[in-house]
Amino acid sequence: MSLAVARVLVTRQLPDGGLDPLARAGHEIVPPRDDDTPLPPEELAKAVAGVDAVVCVLTDRIDADLLRGAAPRLRAVADVAVGYDNIDVATATELGIAVCNTPGVLDETTADLAFLLILAAARRSSDAERDLREGRWLGFRMKRFLGQDVHGRTLGIVGYGRIGQAVARRAAGFGMNVIHHSRRDTGMPGWTGDLDELLRVADVVSLHVPLTPDTTMLIDARRLALMKPTAVLVNTARGPVVDEEALARALEEGALFGAGIDVYEREPEVHPRLLAAPHAVLLPHIGSASEATRRRMAELACEGVVAVLAGERPPNLVTP
Ligand code: DGY
Repeated sequence: MSLAVARVLVTRQLPDGGLDPLARAGHEIVPPRDDDTPLPPEELAKAVAGVDAVVCVLTDRIDADLLRGAAPRLRAVADVAVGYDNIDVATATELGIAVCNTPGVLDETTADLAFLLILAAARRSSDAERDLREGRWLGFRMKRFLGQDVHGRTLGIVGYGRIGQAVARRAAGFGMNVIHHSRRDTGMPGWTGDLDELLRVADVVSLHVPLTPDTTMLIDARRLALMKPTAVLVNTARGPVVDEEALARALEEGALFGAGIDVYEREPEVHPRLLAAPHAVLLPHIGSASEATRRRMAELACEGVVAVLAGERPPNLVTP
């Protein structure tokens, strides 16, 4: 590896040990703000313009103007995330800037959270716990907090990459029948190329597609209307895959039983109607948030930067 010291901007605070690969390589780290708030766009552009590489997160918009302003010094952008929709990869490619992400290390942790949301939304555990904590529990009642069974039901997984498959493995243990949709035939049992059909038959739908122009608003009012009124929708992918207002309306009208949501159209804003909607379990984008996984994600992103700066090809390279 090259011993040349580079300047690397780290935009947000990362778990302890996550920056070790940069430190071991002897690179100079330009640290994030003490209060861990995102850099406003102009400050981010200014900071990126003076470094050789950036370790960023999904709240940092790495757009074409920013990349052009930072080239040719900037050589690598590593997202501490598997989804890299916050980065203009086409422009980075054109400018010869390598983009890395963190695939493979967060699949099981994210699948755990998707399953938590499936169970919580189907069994209404958040509503029930809130009632108890707020002193409204009057004792056992046969008709309170009736939810939907998960066992024996059909789980429809939309997007059958690593995380979708990890959710399918969990579903098998819960006695669910699993079907999945992806545009290309996976050749695996349960595949359907017809998303609308999956939405019609599934009792639980869990979304695991990346955010692209094709998946933006994939689950809109029309598609929500295809789902069973007893069904549950879970989104741990990206907020804009679902029309939040249409989802809130479906829940308000009882057209959909429940929703388990970890990601939002305009994070950290959450649509007020969704906040008020019945049977909605809402988490603040914590899909990959276990100590071990977040640390490994940070390390992997930094390893990508170290490799690029050393003139090597990292395994987690997104740009061609
Ligand atoms: C990702 O990796 O894309 C998640 O949303 C952040 O953990």
